[in-house]
Amino acid sequence: MKCFGSWLVAFGCLFSLPLAAPEIAPGADAKPAIKDVMKAAHKKPKELLKKVATGVATGAEKVELVKLYQALATLRPPRGEAASWEEKTKALLAAARAAAEDKPEAAAELNRVANCAACHDAHK
Ligand code: HEC
Repeated sequence: MKCFGSWLVAFGCLFSLPLAAPEIAPGADAKPAIKDVMKAAHKKPKELLKKVATGVATGAEKVELVKLYQALATLRPPRGEAASWEEKTKALLAAARAAAEDKPEAAAELNRVANCAACHDAHK
C-alpha cells in the first residue's frame, strides 16, 4: 500500500488502519475480548447468564448481560463463518433484551440460544 504519494493518500491510510484492527485501535473505547464476555456472562460460579435465566438477576445485572452480548455481537470469533456468528450472537442479544424487559418466555429462550457446545464447536 502506498501511503506516501500525497496528502490525500496519506489521509486514506490513516483511516484505513483503525478499520483493519478495530479491537486495538488506540484511543477507541476499551472493548472487551470474547474471553472477557465469556468470563463475565458464562463462567461459574457467578455467571450472569444463569442468574438472568433463573430469574434471580437484578435489573442492573440484566442490563449488564445485554451489554455483554451487544459487545459480543461486534467481536470476531477466532474461527467459523461470520454469518453463523452473527446469527448466534444476535439470538443471544435478543433473548437477553427480552429478559431485561421481563418477558415471560425469555428465560427458556436464553437457555435455548446460549448453547455453549454448539458455539464453541463452530467458533472457539
Ligand atoms: C455465541 C457463541 C458462544 C456461546 C453461546 C458460548 N461461547 Fe464460550 N466462547 C466462545 C468463543 C468464540 C470463545 C473463544 C474466545 C477466544 O479464544 O478468543 C469462547 C471461550 C469460552 C471460555 C474460555 C475463556 C478464557 O478465558 O479463555 C469459557 C470459560 C467459555 N467460553 C464458557 C462458555 C459457557 C459456559 C457457555 C454456555 C453457557 C458459552 N461459553 C457459550 C463463544 C461462545
